[in-house]
Amino acid sequence: MTQRYLDDGWQVTGVSRGAAACVNPRYTHLRCPDFSAAPLSKRLGAHLNNARSPYGAFIHAAATDAGVGPIDSLTDAAWDLNWSINVRAAATILRHLLPGMKAKGGAVVLVSSQGAEMPLRYLGPYCVTKAALSHMARCYAAELRAAPVTVNAVGVTFEGGVNAKHRRHKVDLNLRRSAAAGTASYPDVAENLALFEMLTSPEARHISGQYIEAHRGQAT
Ligand SMILES: NC(=O)c1ccc[n+]([C@@H]2O[C@H](COP(=O)([O-])OP(=O)(O)OC[C@H]3O[C@@H](n4cnc5c(N)ncnc54)[C@H](OP(=O)(O)O)[C@@H]3O)[C@@H](O)[C@H]2O)c1
Repeated sequence: MTQRYLDDGWQVTGVSRGAAACVNPRYTHLRCPDFSAAPLSKRLGAHLNNARSPYGAFIHAAATDAGVGPIDSLTDAAWDLNWSINVRAAATILRHLLPGMKAKGGAVVLVSSQGAEMPLRYLGPYCVTKAALSHMARCYAAELRAAPVTVNAVGVTFEGGVNAKHRRHKVDLNLRRSAAAGTASYPDVAENLALFEMLTSPEARHISGQYIEAHRGQAT
């Protein structure tokens, strides 16, 4: 995704616990030990709000699916981690980003999951928090109706590796959709990227508060 946005001419700032995954004069990397920490969000907000670009986009992709197992067996620590990374981190960062975005105009895309719309067995905290994240997009969009900022959620669907990992869960769930549609229901990376590009383009300023999946007629 980073490479695609750089190719499109954007200035990109990536935030992660690890080292930068790419080197490019238009890429800046901020390392943080704890993605949900307020000081990091403040630093990120100041960094982006000082950028000279007339328009900005924020994509919240970090997520955890910590706590895999029967939903009534999972620990408070597993639930807390899911809430903190999958939901609260986005809210903390947005608190620092939105002042600048409201002034310049911009787009927020929260990376949700098909798990937000349908229960994936043994991934309870992940699904619950992704559902909250999707609804968060609607809440922000409603309150920002008068601002030049859009907020949407994209429901990414399983890619091959994760699909294989969770095949057992899917069989348990009797997911007719994937069984009937085969691989055709899974968008490839390029199709998902096209959706992100569309939602973060100024031309999409009339699209806000939506949960969207990149499917070919197979949306949940
Ligand atoms: N892959 C799929 O099939 C699929 C399906 C549905 C939705 N999604 C969504 O798509 C997004 C990307 O998924 P992915 O498969 O690319 O996941 P991934 O490779 O596991 O990436 C998740 C990212 O979140 C970061 N992260 C996790 N816990 C963190 C923490 N405590 N503090 C800071 N950073 C943390 C990880 O950082 P580190 O690199 O430092 O570990 C990693 O960069 C996620 O929002 C995911 O829910 C993916």
